[in-house]
Amino acid sequence: MQEAKYIYFGGKFVGWNDAKIHILSHVVQYGSGVFEGIRCYKTKKGPAIFRGLDHYRRFKDSMKIYRMSVKESPEELEAITKKLLKMNELEEAYIRPVAYRGYGTIKPNPLSLGTDLAIAAFYFGKFLSEDADKGIEVMVSSWRRPAPDTVPMLAKADGNYLNSQLASMEAGKFGFTEAIMLDVNGFVSEGPGENIFLVKDGVLYTPPIGASLLKGITRDSIKKIAEKLGIPVKEEFIPREMLYVADEVFFAGTAAEVTPIGSVDKVQIGDGNIGPISRKIRDAFFKIVQDGEDTFGWLDFVK
Ligand SMILES: Cc1ncc(COP(=O)(O)O)c(C=O)c1O
Repeated sequence: MQEAKYIYFGGKFVGWNDAKIHILSHVVQYGSGVFEGIRCYKTKKGPAIFRGLDHYRRFKDSMKIYRMSVKESPEELEAITKKLLKMNELEEAYIRPVAYRGYGTIKPNPLSLGTDLAIAAFYFGKFLSEDADKGIEVMVSSWRRPAPDTVPMLAKADGNYLNSQLASMEAGKFGFTEAIMLDVNGFVSEGPGENIFLVKDGVLYTPPIGASLLKGITRDSIKKIAEKLGIPVKEEFIPREMLYVADEVFFAGTAAEVTPIGSVDKVQIGDGNIGPISRKIRDAFFKIVQDGEDTFGWLDFVK
């Protein structure tokens, strides 16, 4: 992460080091916050936020699940974000909006508190790998995603990432780049911060939202791009061993973009590099975000 000049905090733009909250804020004690991760790309046609309104709609949905709310609409949040990008002179950025319960009670029940809002934007390069074609090594984590009636995974909530941290730390300690998590029934769910896709016999598979995963904006984009390319897409429960026999496997997410997976539990996938269908999808994705050639209406230009 590279520091920027300003953060939108408490209804105004403040200096990077002035966006501070009390140590006894509810969010610090109990994880009562929701957030987003959005990218602004420096396309050939100018800087553009990728599916910003869809991210802000999910942000509001995450709040609704936790009975939180901010007065700003997705459109207003997008307008604040554009102003922030301009003030920070950022053409390429990772945008991190957060909505959280602040200071005022030490009880777990947060309903006496309102919802506070902050939006940060800063430069952030590649997430999992600098070599775009080489598949990363991943392991299936011993940590599972929570059951659907425990912690709701459709909300992009702070607390979900405790579970993610356990899986990522375990993978890192064992020498893998990232983890894949199974759901409570043992089906493939997602990565700690990425959705997962696999290709078998020309068909693109991804698990359904019932498999305790975040309904990723990139996941949706990949499905739509694949359909446009004439690649059949199936959303279904995926047993673990499908990963081993897949022709191609990749992660998808705002941070991960399209990251090929070269092995799962040391079982090599294809030749260990990005496969032909993943490459086609990735190239189509980058044509939009790098060249600015967007037939889907996903780019919101900053200027
Ligand atoms: C747990 C999890 N799953 C999936 C994703 C991918 O979602 P998106 O494509 O909306 O960034 C993310 C990243 O935000 C994530 O944290």
